[in-house]
Amino acid sequence: MGKVYVFDHPLIQHKLTFIRDKRTGTKEFRELVDEVGTLMAFEITRDLPLQEVNVQTPVSEANSKVLAGKKLGLIPILRAGLGMTDGILGLIPTAKVGHVGLYRDPETLQPVEYYVKLPSDIEERELIVIDPMLATGGSANVAIEALKKRGAKQIRLMCLIAAPEGVEAVKEEHPDVDIYLAALDEKLNEKGYIIPGLGDAGDRLYGTK
Ligand code: URA
Repeated sequence: MGKVYVFDHPLIQHKLTFIRDKRTGTKEFRELVDEVGTLMAFEITRDLPLQEVNVQTPVSEANSKVLAGKKLGLIPILRAGLGMTDGILGLIPTAKVGHVGLYRDPETLQPVEYYVKLPSDIEERELIVIDPMLATGGSANVAIEALKKRGAKQIRLMCLIAAPEGVEAVKEEHPDVDIYLAALDEKLNEKGYIIPGLGDAGDRLYGTK
């Protein structure tokens, strides 16, 4: 079963408070989401494998370490996922970035993919799907399925805030996917918003309504 990690680092929790606050304007909101993306990237990469190498320092030889294992791929779900992506790239600049765009079918109300553009070697990469809000889990599940259909083998899901309903939905449909969060909130309301949440992440990032 997929594991759920909630990052309780004080800096992440501090910044998340201002992200939640409705008085925080678009510019500051975007900056804070970007910064939390960087801090979460620091935490999510904690378990990456290392290998030993020798380097010559100016004074002697050193046994040191470099990253080993699979290369990373970032997969923001359009459009709110973009808000965290640059922050993550700040720490992992060599990661490739793929995009998944979804729309809501007006009849079934289910998310449907309309745009998928991925690095050519996704089956060899460890992929991080990025979506700030894990509400019902519908979009994350469709995005993860879109990646698996195209050969992805290792996928993690990174969100700012999740509702328990969304976490359960992803755990059930994709038990191989671990979920990384800054906060696990109380519930969804009748309109599908996370409570207490932060409102609509896309609108707050881009100043739309
Ligand atoms: N998407 C958002 O942007 N906010 C929510 O609360 C739920 C889904």
